[in-house]
Amino acid sequence: MSQENKFFSHETIEKNVGWLIICTIIAVSFAGLVQIIPLFFQHSTTEPSPGVVPYTALRLAGRDVYQREGCVNCHSQQIRTLRSEVERYGPYSLAGESVFDHPFLWGSKRTGPDLARVGGRYSDEWHQIHLNNPRDVVPESIMPSYPWLAKSPADASSISSHMLAMRRLGVPYTDDEIANASKELEGKTELDALIAYLQGLGINRRYITIDEVVVK
Ligand code: HEC
Repeated sequence: MSQENKFFSHETIEKNVGWLIICTIIAVSFAGLVQIIPLFFQHSTTEPSPGVVPYTALRLAGRDVYQREGCVNCHSQQIRTLRSEVERYGPYSLAGESVFDHPFLWGSKRTGPDLARVGGRYSDEWHQIHLNNPRDVVPESIMPSYPWLAKSPADASSISSHMLAMRRLGVPYTDDEIANASKELEGKTELDALIAYLQGLGINRRYITIDEVVVK
């Protein structure tokens, strides 16, 4: 390399920690943006997958309970594309299934099983017993008990403003749905709301199991 270009040679950058850090940050940021920016414009990540609809008021209230109680610390809601996962939990998760999730609850820790497709796997009664005391249905379970949920009424006072906030984030709630939201929660407990939420998780794609894909 000629003497004039020495200042910006590869060697200079590699030997100077400051330059190396700056150039690495530029390279990594650029590469990151190249991957991230197109995702904001792809239909597969911005449009709901077939069958995915906004949460009803009751399910949205249940989702709040799920967040408050920290279920996400032990349960993921994201099935990876690995065969072992698909066989155990059902079809792998798609980005379009989370478009109405603000915030998303994919999680990163699986002390308990993934819940992305738990909807319909058990009866409402099973969930009632399990959430009250998991050991009553799964003797070896280490999941905490949540006995207070059956005694606390679902929060009807804030549900309409919550749905309005969701609408601002792009969830297409109608004025009627928002106006009738608190009525939907009348007489319901936090347990009812949480179970309604769980029973709807992932049911839109239950119909494609790995067995069906292999057989047909
Ligand atoms: C400390 C970790 C932990 C927390 C927190 C936790 N769970 Fe669990 N959960 C588990 C474990 C372990 C299992 C597996 C044993 C069992 O079924 O009880 C489980 C199982 C489940 C199952 C059955 C899943 C299946 O496919 O069999 C559901 C549904 C569930 N949990 C819901 C919840 C909800 C809702 C909350 C929050 C209110 C919650 N869990 C909080 C650890 C946890």
